[in-house]
Amino acid sequence: MLSRIVRPTLTAARNFSTSQQNNYKVTVCGAAGGIGQPLSLLLKLNPLVTELNCYDIAPFTPGVACDLSHIETASKVKGYFFDRFAGQESLKDALNSADVVVIPAGVPRKPGMTRDDLFGSNASVVKTIFECASVACPDAIFCIITNPVNSCVPIACEVLKKANKLNPRRVFGVSTLDIVRANTFVGEMCGVNPKEVNVPVIGGHSGITIVPLFSRATPKVTIPADKLDALTKRVQEAGTEVVKAKAGHGSATLSMAYSGARFANNVMRALMGEPDVIECAYVMADVTDVDYFASPVKLGKCGIEQNCGVGDINEYETKLLCDALEQLKRDIQKGVDFANQDQ
Ligand code: NAD
Ligand code: LMR
Repeated sequence: MLSRIVRPTLTAARNFSTSQQNNYKVTVCGAAGGIGQPLSLLLKLNPLVTELNCYDIAPFTPGVACDLSHIETASKVKGYFFDRFAGQESLKDALNSADVVVIPAGVPRKPGMTRDDLFGSNASVVKTIFECASVACPDAIFCIITNPVNSCVPIACEVLKKANKLNPRRVFGVSTLDIVRANTFVGEMCGVNPKEVNVPVIGGHSGITIVPLFSRATPKVTIPADKLDALTKRVQEAGTEVVKAKAGHGSATLSMAYSGARFANNVMRALMGEPDVIECAYVMADVTDVDYFASPVKLGKCGIEQNCGVGDINEYETKLLCDALEQLKRDIQKGVDFANQDQ
């Protein structure tokens, strides 16, 4: 199972040598939602973004765009919403020649639900967006936030594959929130500034498929043996912690907007030629026995430059990984089957 594991290079250099394009057109699909609005705000504040297209099925989306457009940054903001008389034309217009597409469109969990329970609502949302993207912006970098991420990324790739437009280096499931949470919890436990902590999180983005690698945290930290299970579980169940705390009013939105903006920013830094940008993400990969897997990936001008794979992990983490792979296999197959069901 671990035969294809490669050693990762986790140094995230801050230097940046070449500069090329530094003006990116970014489209947010689901821009009027709980994540979409603060995410669009953070993108409006990002100097690398010069055009920001906000798309949502909600008719007030042009209002969200109008609101953002008054912020004193140079980027131009446009709002688009689904018009049932025009079919998917406004979605295609919103996506047209985007460099980066960030997708927080779809239904969030309520208490008692798993992420997989969202499949029935969200699978078709992702399918439609990628059918349009395969025409409007096939060369974009796609950042999928919509749950269940484990199945939505395979749906996206299958749709692009059918249209002969799949470039697996450019399709990402955003698992950044898992890393952000692991960094925060380790920082709190070890008395380190969470901003200085980096915990790789591999596998997928739901329950036991989330595998934090505390043994590879930087700076090196020692988690007491009697606290390791609880800390691992807390990272795996952190989304549910928020769902419960919001008591029927959605799931993580603000920490996700931060994480989505962080990921998109790193994608753009890499696109413009900054070296050694490494982020964990859930991508099509051959680093384990499943076809999609979250691991540290080196980003570059064309998307994924190198998948750093699983790297060295200890016995405890190996056991977690074995359990994750079993679940991931099922989640991936569900997405692939859905995308191909009408063939
Ligand atoms: P929300 O309900 O607040 O917002 C979702 C938005 O999507 C709404 O504005 C809705 O109108 C829009 N939408 C629905 N169908 C659409 C379509 N076909 N095209 C375009 N827009 C559409 O939900 P939220 O809290 O913003 O969460 C959005 C998704 O992100 C959920 O699936 C949630 O589970 C997921 N999520 C993922 C992560 C992660 O780590 N990857 C973290 C948090 C939430
Ligand atoms: C999260 O991890 O917060 C998201 O996947 C949302 C959820 O449903 O938990």
